[in-house]
Amino acid sequence: MTTETILITGASGQIGTVLTEELRKRYGSDAVLQTDIRLPEERQGHFEVLDVMNATQLGSLIRQYNVRQVYHLAAILSAKGEKNPKWAWEINMAGLFNILEAAREFGLRVFFPSSIAVFGGMTPRINTPQYAVLQPETVYGISKVAGENWCQYFYQKYEVDVRSVRYPGIISYQSMPGGGTTDYAVEIFHNAVKGEPYSCFLKEDTRLPMMYMPDAIRATLELMEAPAESVKIRSSYNLAGMSFTPSEVAAEIRKHIPGFQVAYEPDFRQNIAASWPESIDDSQAREDWGWQPEYGLEKMTIDMLAHLKEYYQVVLM
Ligand code: SER
Repeated sequence: MTTETILITGASGQIGTVLTEELRKRYGSDAVLQTDIRLPEERQGHFEVLDVMNATQLGSLIRQYNVRQVYHLAAILSAKGEKNPKWAWEINMAGLFNILEAAREFGLRVFFPSSIAVFGGMTPRINTPQYAVLQPETVYGISKVAGENWCQYFYQKYEVDVRSVRYPGIISYQSMPGGGTTDYAVEIFHNAVKGEPYSCFLKEDTRLPMMYMPDAIRATLELMEAPAESVKIRSSYNLAGMSFTPSEVAAEIRKHIPGFQVAYEPDFRQNIAASWPESIDDSQAREDWGWQPEYGLEKMTIDMLAHLKEYYQVVLM
C-alpha cells in the first residue's frame, strides 16, 4: 500500500470513535487505519484487530499500511485501573513503549493522550499550573505521568515527534466512556433524555475540569497539525474547556427537562475525583499553538440534549 496512513489504537473507545470519523473526513477513508482489540460497532474503512501489547503485529501493520502517524488512544482508565493495578500498568506502559519504539524505528509522529489524572492531592486544585507537583493517586495517573516523561525522553533522545495533551473529562453523545471517573457527566445526559432519574457516583459539589468532544478533537488535531517548532512542550500540555459540579450540570439539564431527578451516592470514584484539579491553567497551549475552547456548560448541554434526543427519538417535555 502506498497511501500514507494514520493509525489509531483504541479506536473503538470514546475518543477513538469520533477521532476516526473526523480523520477520515479530513484525509479520506483510505488514509486512516482504525485498530482496537474490540470490533467497532460500525465498520466503514480499514480496520484491524490490534493488541497494543503485540509489538510484532504493530510493526507488520505499520509496514503493510505505510503508517506515518499514530494516535495511541488504547489505555485502561482511572476507575477500571484501580480494580487491577498491575494489569492497567502493564497495558498502559507496554502499549506506549511499543508505540514509541515503533515511532523511533519508522520515523512516525505520535499523539499520546495524557490526563488531569496526572495531578494528585499535593497539586493546587484551582487553575492548576502546567508545571505542578505530579503525585497521582491512581495507577492510571501514575502510568500517564510516566508516559509523559517517556514521550519527552524519546523526543529529546531520538527526535521522535511526539505530542500530547492532558485531557479533562470528555463529554460526547456519539460514544460512551468506559471505566473513568468523569463518566457520570455522559451518563447523566442519557438518563435525562430517556426520562429516567440518575444516581451519581460523585458528590454533588465535586468540581472537575471537563471538555466537550468537538473541542477535544479540535485540540488534538490542532496540536498534531501545528508546526513542530510551536510544540514547545514534549511531555504534555494542560488543556481546559469548562469546569462544573454534578449539581451544576443537573441544574443546566433541568432548564430543558424540568422534572429531571438526580440522587448522589458516591462510591470509590469520589476519592479519585477529590484528588484531581477543579480547573486547569492552559495558557501554554493557548500561547504555543493558539488553543481556544468553544464550548461552555450551557452550549454543550444544548448540543448534547439535541443529539441524544434525536438518538433516542423522544420528545423532551
Ligand atoms: N476521564 C478520565 C477518567 O476519568 C480521565 O482522564 O479516567
